[in-house]
Amino acid sequence: MTSRSVDIKQQYGPWALIAGASEGIGLAFADQLAAQGINLVLLSRSQGKLEAAASDIKAKHNVDIRLVAADLTAENCMDSIRSETAGLEIGLLIYNAGAVHGAELFLDDPLEKSLGLVSLNCRGPVLLAHHFGQPMRERKRGGMIFLSSMAAFAGGSYVATYSATKAFDIIFPQSLWHEMAPDNVNVLCLIAGATRTPAMASSGLDLSTEQEGGPAIMDSADVATEGLANLANGPVWIAGEGNRATAEMLAAVPRKDLVEAMSMATANLYDKPYIPVKS
Ligand SMILES: NC(=O)c1ccc[n+]([C@@H]2O[C@H](COP(=O)([O-])OP(=O)(O)OC[C@H]3O[C@@H](n4cnc5c(N)ncnc54)[C@H](OP(=O)(O)O)[C@@H]3O)[C@@H](O)[C@H]2O)c1
Repeated sequence: MTSRSVDIKQQYGPWALIAGASEGIGLAFADQLAAQGINLVLLSRSQGKLEAAASDIKAKHNVDIRLVAADLTAENCMDSIRSETAGLEIGLLIYNAGAVHGAELFLDDPLEKSLGLVSLNCRGPVLLAHHFGQPMRERKRGGMIFLSSMAAFAGGSYVATYSATKAFDIIFPQSLWHEMAPDNVNVLCLIAGATRTPAMASSGLDLSTEQEGGPAIMDSADVATEGLANLANGPVWIAGEGNRATAEMLAAVPRKDLVEAMSMATANLYDKPYIPVKS
């Protein structure tokens, strides 16, 4: 791994905001940042889950924690985010919320679910990056991490909107990485493969055992560790050696075959019928 060790607090500042912080990868980021003395703004929809996360972190680390219970897909979500963070020097923004839950054919899913994904994975990152990026640029220091997915490498049956919005979460940070580098703001797209998180478990997937022939399923903590270690190594970092090897292999596969393979893998993963396109 070509990681560069940095003093995160010194490089980025005293506070981090984690969107999607109550569990899984987001909670692992929170825990690891708190261990380095960074104060935290933890954001997710559920006040109860946030309180549990905060008390767990507080029991281990001496940091200040603010909670923002907000739905990032809500029209007015920035109101509470703005007011709860006013006056804080947020030096790190981690946009983790991405709503992994289930897979369905596009036309069989309610339209609202797809539009919700567009809102969470595209509108949300734009809103938060614009709000917190301005003061980072003025201060000439800061960092942002946006979570994407191996599913973004090609669309496929059952994950049309999810894959497409996760592709946005690669391209958007890549551009910001280039635009904000002169202002000493590091931007990273962190691509995760299959990772054990509560959301993944509740989507009905059994991630307790490895998939035959697939890359190793990762633990949330390892994904977060790689993200922080490679924040200055943007624009993109793929978490996990197995995922990096898979990504390299996929880059050489013709697009048609790639979408076919993605569709088959998703169907297998979610126990759905796989119907290949006749060529
Ligand atoms: N797990 C995997 O296998 C995997 C694979 C590839 C990529 N990823 C990416 O990794 C990230 C984390 O995934 P995850 O598996 O932990 O699932 P997730 O559904 O994104 O949940 C993560 C966090 O986001 C919060 N959240 C979800 N929807 C929200 C909303 N509308 N507004 C505010 N907060 C919201 C959840 O808390 P609340 O329920 O309290 O809101 C939770 O704290 C996502 O971006 C995902 O695309 C995950």
